[in-house]
Amino acid sequence: MPEALEHIRRMRGGAQAHLMRCSDGGYYVVKFQNNPQHQRILVNELLGTRLAARLGLRTPRVAVVHVDQRLIDLTSELVMQIGTARIPCRAGFQFGSRYPGDPAQIVVHDLLPEEQLLAVENLADFCGILVFDKWTCNTNGRQAIFYREDGQPHYAAMMIDQGFCFNAGEWNFPDAPLRGLYLRQRVYEQVRGMEAFEPWLARLEQVNERVLDALSKEIPPEWYDGDQDALYRLLEQLLRRRKRVPDLILEAKKSDRQPFPNWT
Ligand SMILES: Nc1ncnc2c1ncn2[C@@H]1O[C@H](COP(=O)(O)OP(=O)(O)OP(=O)(O)O)[C@@H](O)[C@H]1O
Ligand SMILES: [Mg+2]
Repeated sequence: MPEALEHIRRMRGGAQAHLMRCSDGGYYVVKFQNNPQHQRILVNELLGTRLAARLGLRTPRVAVVHVDQRLIDLTSELVMQIGTARIPCRAGFQFGSRYPGDPAQIVVHDLLPEEQLLAVENLADFCGILVFDKWTCNTNGRQAIFYREDGQPHYAAMMIDQGFCFNAGEWNFPDAPLRGLYLRQRVYEQVRGMEAFEPWLARLEQVNERVLDALSKEIPPEWYDGDQDALYRLLEQLLRRRKRVPDLILEAKKSDRQPFPNWT
C-alpha cells in the first residue's frame, strides 16, 4: 500500500483533495475520510473506479493510500477548510487517484476546447461511461481529465470523480433522464443507436456477485463505519440494476435535451 510522503498542493473541488507524493514513486490525488462531502465517497471512488475500469474504460489507477498522523501534524496545509474553521485531515487509510505521471512534467486539463475534445483518442469512452453512470446513478455531472502522453498528437480522456455514484452518501438510486450525461454533448455525436453502447453493456453483464465481493474486500471498513449490511445492500442493488441500463439510456434519448441527435 502506498504511504504518503509529501504534500504537493491542494486541489480544487468540494472534496478538498490533496496531491501527494507517495512511497511507490507515484503522485496521488488523495481524498480524506473527513472530507466535507461524505465519508462514503471514498467507498464510491474506489469501488466505482474499479468497476469502470472493469468495463474497459480508461480511469486513473486507484489505491488505498496511508497517511500518517506525523505527516499531518507537520503539514499546515493538510486541513479541511469548513467556513472559517481549519480541521486537520484525518490520518489513516484514504482514497488515492494516481496522477498520470509526474505533475511537474504532465499537464492535466479538466476541460478541452471543442475541436481538441472531438479528437480525443478514446472519445467513444464517453458512451461507455454513460453505461456506467446510468448503472451506478451518478448524481453529479460526468467528469473527465485530459492529458497528452509523450509525443502523442491527441489527448486521452480519463474518467475521474466517482464520488457521487450511488447518490453520494445516500447509497440509493434516484434515476433521472439527464443524470450522467457529459455537459459537452458533442461527445455523443457518433451515437446512431443502442449498438454504440454495446461493448460496455456486454462487459456489464459479466460483473457478477463474485466480482463485487472481491472488490468490496479491498474497501477499508472505516470508510463505511463497518456497516456491512449497508454495503451488502448496495452491491445487491447494483447487481439487480444491470439489466435496467438500456432503458435508462432510452429515457435519456427521449429527453428534451436530445443528447443523441443522430440516433433516429
Ligand atoms: N487522477 C488524477 N490525476 C490528475 N488530476 C486529478 C486526478 N483526480 C482528480 N484530479 C484533479 O483534481 C480535481 C478534483 O478532483 P475531483 O473532481 O475528483 O474532486 P471533487 O472534490 O469531487 O471535485 P468537484 O467538487 O469539483 O466535483 C479535478 O478537477 C482534477 O483536476
Ligand atoms: Mg469533481
